[in-house]
Amino acid sequence: MELNREYISITTVQEHHARPMQSYRVLGRRIAIFRDEHGAYYAIETNCKHQGADLLTGEVRDHIATCPRHQWQYDLRSGICLNHESPRLRRYTVIVAGNVLKMAVVPSDDELDS
Ligand code: FES
Repeated sequence: MELNREYISITTVQEHHARPMQSYRVLGRRIAIFRDEHGAYYAIETNCKHQGADLLTGEVRDHIATCPRHQWQYDLRSGICLNHESPRLRRYTVIVAGNVLKMAVVPSDDELDS
């Protein structure tokens, strides 16, 4: 991984295409990067806001993740919990620079307080 002031290089587009959703440890955080059906990339934290379970060890269908412990569900595009009052999962902007997927180092502005 290569860090600059705003974005960190995560992987190549080709490597990521092998599996549409993959998780990475980025600056000490577990982050999932996935591509939706329209080809848009998303980066989002993967620890459940309830008790911290790894959402990627539960069921992920389309863009909905169900926590393996108590079945809280999250929309991975928005980070919103669908069946409980909860802070959002933190999201990070993803850019494609040539052949490389890069993720913003800080969460999107609307997640900074969650
Ligand atoms: S730890 Fe995820 S729902 Fe409880």
